[in-house]
Amino acid sequence: PLPEKVRIVEVGVRDGLQNEQRIIPTDGKLRLIDGLVSAGVTHLEAGSFVSPKWVPQMADSSDVFHRLHRKDGVRYAALTPNLKGLEAAIEAGASEVAIFGAASEAFSQKNINCSIAESLSRFLPVVRLAYEHDIPVRGYVSCVMGCPYEGEISLERVAEVSAELMELGCYEVSLGDTIGVGTPLKAQQMINCVSRKVPVKQLAVHFHDTYGQALANILAALQAGVTVVDSSIAGLGGCPYAKGASGNVATEDLVYMLNGLGIDSGIDLDRLIHVSNAFCRDNELIQRSKVALARSVE
Ligand code: HMG
Ligand code: MG
Repeated sequence: PLPEKVRIVEVGVRDGLQNEQRIIPTDGKLRLIDGLVSAGVTHLEAGSFVSPKWVPQMADSSDVFHRLHRKDGVRYAALTPNLKGLEAAIEAGASEVAIFGAASEAFSQKNINCSIAESLSRFLPVVRLAYEHDIPVRGYVSCVMGCPYEGEISLERVAEVSAELMELGCYEVSLGDTIGVGTPLKAQQMINCVSRKVPVKQLAVHFHDTYGQALANILAALQAGVTVVDSSIAGLGGCPYAKGASGNVATEDLVYMLNGLGIDSGIDLDRLIHVSNAFCRDNELIQRSKVALARSVE
């Protein structure tokens, strides 16, 4: 059975733009965020508080948050790998933060410069301080269907790290196929394995489309009970620490599929496509949503 409703978490402004060579000016990010919200997006990542030496594309996150035209009922989230990041996120008024771990040791080292165990102990004070400020914390697990350095990743390991993030106090765990290598049967097995440790209603999927499998994998995850899906406008994105990782599933393509399945996402597809095409045109970015491309030649 498929869900009646899906919550989409729009990650384009963060996951999308962190990986673009071109650094998008703060005004451009703000315009995109306004456009996304006008199309009905209610949950989005607006930036990340990480080292600007590591990810210069996100160096203006504090400005982005300070200058948001906030709308009631919209969650503006930020990635925060450590206390320094969380303190900056609090100062800037993030409505939600995310800590991000991995199911692969090698990826954890490359991405956040520490082991999985170290990352979890680093996250504990982050979650505590966030809750003192009434800020909900989301958890990410990267490499849930494969790692660019280690290859195959055990699903048990994915389940364990997910359970640990929940124990720390995350309200939801987003399962990242960072390099988009999964296929539907594996996606379903992964969800089934993780949901033995974390209730499926607290799982989200975050699938990159590197191998063109993201929509199929999402459908498999929905059939396995997942109701929260991360996606990125125009299919922007990738992870700078995962070579060859291309964008997340495009939000337009996801909404098109959900519409066809009769699943409500609250997002207006025409408006979204308009916002996406305008953003790509204004910033000379490649449009990678098939639906947006199809509509722009109609
Ligand atoms: P580190 O070098 O181990 O940290 O980096 P450190 O505490 O030793 O600090 C080193 C320097 O960084 C210091 O500056 C700190 O002040 C600074 P210096 O003295 O050299 O001038 N620093 C910071 N600056 C700003 N904000 C901070 C911060 N923390 C330290 N929060 C660190 C550790 C995590 C900071 C670093 O490895 C980093 O920034 N990594 C970036 C990771 C990242 O953004 N990756 C992409 C996002 S994750 C992703 O895309 C996957 C996901 O989409 C899911 C999926 O697809 O799988 C979520
Ligand atoms: Mg990602």
